[in-house]
Amino acid sequence: MRKIMIAGNWKMNLTKAEGIALAEAVNSYASSFPNVEILMCPPMSLVGLIGQKNLPVALGAQDIAETPKSFGAFTGDVSAEMVKDLGATYTILGHSERRAMHHETDAIVSQKASNAHQISLKTIICVGETLEEREAGKALEIVTNQVKGSLPTSSTAENTVIAYEPVWAIGTGKIPTLDEIAEVHHAIREKVADLFGQETAQGMRILYGGSVKPSNAKDILALEDVDGALVGGASLKPDDFKGIISAV
Ligand code: PGA
Repeated sequence: MRKIMIAGNWKMNLTKAEGIALAEAVNSYASSFPNVEILMCPPMSLVGLIGQKNLPVALGAQDIAETPKSFGAFTGDVSAEMVKDLGATYTILGHSERRAMHHETDAIVSQKASNAHQISLKTIICVGETLEEREAGKALEIVTNQVKGSLPTSSTAENTVIAYEPVWAIGTGKIPTLDEIAEVHHAIREKVADLFGQETAQGMRILYGGSVKPSNAKDILALEDVDGALVGGASLKPDDFKGIISAV
């Protein structure tokens, strides 16, 4: 049985005080949902601060450095080791905002994931097509190629979660139809089976992300191959985030 995961991607938002308040709000209701793995991914500026509070809800980062080194002359970077030291157990990798704005390729994402796995930091690896690619009928090809290129050989059902996030659905209020989501999730699972075997594919969680809200969460989360959600905007509002968790 794959445990449903609801992960909040706070992106580049919140001051210290706001971040702590949000983390405490999420922790105030999290224990009411023992069947859901809840994860908060604050910006790097807040990971250590929230980590120090030793709250029960798991903590993740939104990225890690590409170098496999834990420490060294890499100005501006934070290594997998450092993120783990702050209390994070997960890191998001290959989010479309990083692929688009920081030119992250599948090879870079795969290297980062390998760095994380090396020190037992778990990964949420994001894939997703642009609107242009979907309209050209290439969504499945693009997404399955990203899975192939972004998951290193160290990927297992325990250390890796895939997030399918159509680029055009992120922060736009638009979502694919349920049939489209089901089709892509199924194709991702088949690709994982091709690459890592059926057992890994059946155990690996595949989240949907892109404009998930309390009002659409129930239908999306009811789909067979959808094992949770990666939530951006709605994760900044504790009641909306709770509404999504309640839809599991
Ligand atoms: P959104 O973002 O929920 O605001 O669409 C999702 C994401 O980018 O992870």
